[in-house]
Amino acid sequence: VETGGLGPDGKLEGMTGTLALSVFTAVLGSLEFGYNIGVINAPQKIIEQDYNATWIHRYGKEIPAGTLTSLWSLSVAIFSIGGMLSSFCVGFISEWLGRRKAMLINNLLAFIGGGLMGMSKISRSFEMLILGRFVIGAYCGLASGLTPMYVGEIAPTSLRGALGTLHQLAIVTGILLAQVLGLESLLGSEELWPVLLGVTVLPTVLQMALLPFCPESPRFLYIIRCQEHHAKSLRRLTGRQEVGDMLAEMKEEKRRMDMERKVSIAELFRSPLYRQPIIIAILLQLSQQLSGINAIFYYSTSIFIKAGVQSPVYATIGAGVVNCAFTVVSLFLVERMGRRTLHMLGLGGMSICAIVMTVALATLESVPSMSYLSMLAIFGFVAFFEVGPGPIPWFFVAELFSQGPRPAAMAVAGFSNWTANFIIGMGFQYVADLCGPYVFLIFAALLLFFLIFTFFRVPETRGKTFDQIAANFHQHSAGGMMDMDMDLDLGKPSTELDYLGEESIN
Ligand SMILES: *[C@@H]1O[C@H](CO)[C@@H](O)[C@H](O)[C@H]1NC(C)=O
Repeated sequence: VETGGLGPDGKLEGMTGTLALSVFTAVLGSLEFGYNIGVINAPQKIIEQDYNATWIHRYGKEIPAGTLTSLWSLSVAIFSIGGMLSSFCVGFISEWLGRRKAMLINNLLAFIGGGLMGMSKISRSFEMLILGRFVIGAYCGLASGLTPMYVGEIAPTSLRGALGTLHQLAIVTGILLAQVLGLESLLGSEELWPVLLGVTVLPTVLQMALLPFCPESPRFLYIIRCQEHHAKSLRRLTGRQEVGDMLAEMKEEKRRMDMERKVSIAELFRSPLYRQPIIIAILLQLSQQLSGINAIFYYSTSIFIKAGVQSPVYATIGAGVVNCAFTVVSLFLVERMGRRTLHMLGLGGMSICAIVMTVALATLESVPSMSYLSMLAIFGFVAFFEVGPGPIPWFFVAELFSQGPRPAAMAVAGFSNWTANFIIGMGFQYVADLCGPYVFLIFAALLLFFLIFTFFRVPETRGKTFDQIAANFHQHSAGGMMDMDMDLDLGKPSTELDYLGEESIN
């Protein structure tokens, strides 16, 4: 079981220069991931004008409103298609090239994507921007898998939890950075928006310059490649000559992995052993994306404009700051309050905020001061997201599965996440145009559904070993053979009660 990163004297034990450098270099990928989520938000109106201008230049008439909505939604959402496709390849590429070389090669995608987006204005081509979003999405899909994998593998056990959370922290920092640079007085202007989209190559350059100084993951070298120079890489990371204890730990890990057969994706769904946890894993990912959070991150500026907030871009930045702050709050709470509790708290809070937001937006015409309430509701929505549904689904999937089925489960989880992300990016603007202020009621209902699901079906994993977690599901599938097909019946919590009850012991 992972312990926190702080030693008894409050110092980070086991932290070395090489380790810090390697983690910093790796999370540059997460930073870029966040940047590209947030960057498309503020300059929406300006880029739409350019699409219009291009259309007039080409066809001699202004762009039809429907076509503009489609082109913009596609520009936003195609990012997730890139991510969806590439996140499926993380396992294969990271084993074929190794973690470090995979990150290095991945940067090529960032160069191509950033270049295409940066050149699209002078080339008068929205196709280039859309293609660039696709390529940068593919980069982000790989980075979102490779970064946590590499960081998790090079971190000593005592620091794994703390360093692992830096991935999420770098993502939200990237979102905030994009929102700040997107200010009209900085890069979010009519002339400079290509630079705003293009600067995504800068962290890439930095990462490429630093990666040669980072050691390859010793776990990859030893467990996957069975190579002997893993000890050298371990010595560099730990700064110690004597690494026998860590070598023994890796040997044990390899032994356990060799004992367990790899499980294919099809088997995950077929075997009653895995069906329950994979359904939980998928629904947790869906609860993250279908909560509507990306509707806020992609479209908050236009939501704030509709809500009559006076400086919509600053409100968007405010949301980014709240986002960062509560990610840090969650880091401190997650080992204390447990995953299940925090996730439910987050979902419930978001649902209430969504309802408040709807009421505020719907009564805006008659009560102008409602614009403040809607802004507060959006801030609350973001804060509750980072308490639970933001960070938790990612590492929860890894906790639900042991070595054998874990890679397949992570691929399925990643795929569900990016698919839902695409649906929101593509569909939100249409549904918002259709339902007006009531669009957030849909999210409130979905959130309530996920809350109920979590209450009845999701076990607590905090402080449990992988064996204990797996044993709970085995017990359940053995006891529930008869009603296996009714596994998703929410009205029947009886078999879960035994392990939900255990929570109070901790
Ligand atoms: C497109 O540009 C023209 C001319 O500047 C303008 O009149 C029209 O409102 C614009 N259309 C849209 C959908 O923005």
